[in-house]
Amino acid sequence: MNERPHPNPPPQAGEGDVSWIASRGEPLYGDVIVPGDKSVSHRAIMLGAIAEGVTRIEGFLEGEDTRATATIFRQLGVQIDAPSDGVRIVHGVGLHGLRASQEPLDCGNAGTAMRLLTGLLAGQAFDSTLIGDASLSQRPMRRVIDPLAALGARIDSNDGCAPLRIRGGQALRGTQIDLTVASAQLKSAVLLAGLYADGETRVSEPHPTRDYTERMLTGFGVACEFAPGVATVRGGATLHGTEVHVPADFSSAAFFLVAATLVPGSELLLRQVGMNPRRTGLLHVLRMMGADITEEAASVQGGEPVCDLRIRYAPLHGIEVPVDHVPDMIDEFPILFIAAACAQGVTVVRGAAELRVKESDRIAVMACGLRSLGIRIDETPDGATIHGGKLQGSADLIQSHGDHRIAMAFAVAAQVADGDVLIGDVANVATSFPDFDALARRAGFGLRSRD
Ligand code: S3P
Repeated sequence: MNERPHPNPPPQAGEGDVSWIASRGEPLYGDVIVPGDKSVSHRAIMLGAIAEGVTRIEGFLEGEDTRATATIFRQLGVQIDAPSDGVRIVHGVGLHGLRASQEPLDCGNAGTAMRLLTGLLAGQAFDSTLIGDASLSQRPMRRVIDPLAALGARIDSNDGCAPLRIRGGQALRGTQIDLTVASAQLKSAVLLAGLYADGETRVSEPHPTRDYTERMLTGFGVACEFAPGVATVRGGATLHGTEVHVPADFSSAAFFLVAATLVPGSELLLRQVGMNPRRTGLLHVLRMMGADITEEAASVQGGEPVCDLRIRYAPLHGIEVPVDHVPDMIDEFPILFIAAACAQGVTVVRGAAELRVKESDRIAVMACGLRSLGIRIDETPDGATIHGGKLQGSADLIQSHGDHRIAMAFAVAAQVADGDVLIGDVANVATSFPDFDALARRAGFGLRSRD
């Protein structure tokens, strides 16, 4: 497998128009409910679509990524009603009920949609084409094509990238797949293809990753056996429509967790956040750095642990981030880099080369932005050494390269910077957290759109 690092494409015409002026606000205070989990929302639509009967989803993320998934399943012949914000009723068509789409299926910016769908569509009787936006079209897809090919799938790509043309009518055979990249997207793609394979498909991963697909398959009545790092399904199972309660997205909560930790005088309560143990690595790392975060009102909702998180301001110190925590906080490194930049001393991140193939090359883009704020940061191929210091305002526009998590991370940085921070190309925040700016302002952020 030969994967190129992300070239960080410049914004396309019209894409870079929206920008923010972020600056110090008030101490963060009150209750915040962040939107539903992106990973769970994608999967709920997918499994609901191939189930028998109706699936009701509560707490669905109204983001561009997850809406793209819903649109794709409508194109594949599934009726999906949206009676109110955050609610979807999916009228499942059964394992073999999807119909070919005459048009390409557009995943937009959503890597999760593209990779999981590649697995699911590999098992259909018809051909499909998956496309994405400029950023997604540069992300590595060989990592999903190769394991699916081992099951018998036929997928053509543009030199390992989208567009992906998935040939239908292949007889998939269950087998053992040993992934070399720790990625829940790849594991899930294999499991979804495994539903259409003859016999048993067993997937192992080099480090355990989020297990939402496995848990949700179980919730839909499929005998999916799983333990950290391995999962098994048998082909031909029937999924039964069910109710899915989507917890609040830990990755969206992460921006508020760090902001309240950094801004003196803050005390914030984040309500009913999803606490899947494979997602909460940032919590452990922030606590190692000195953060004051308590867990309250813990419960289990729809098979997922949730709790309220109370965060009080606390000074941080630099640490070596344990490599074992990397997969459990893979989406949280942009905001961790901000915490590290404000900590006393040095923070070292290793074993995180995956960051280079996310929505942007997150190591390079964060390093560039932090340098504009006066922070010393040394990049390595798989991480960075961040020297904590005093954040200045930005003389130049900080480019988020259309990466939602970069934009939100720098909005947090601005809450403790000496001067305004200008953040460009922020429209993509709508992919995962459409109301971030309004919610952030309500909690105390200084943040406005630039005309
Ligand atoms: C996701 C898995 C992770 C994560 C992404 C969502 C998922 O990607 O970064 O935001 O829902 O399975 P990788 O599988 O590439 O690590």
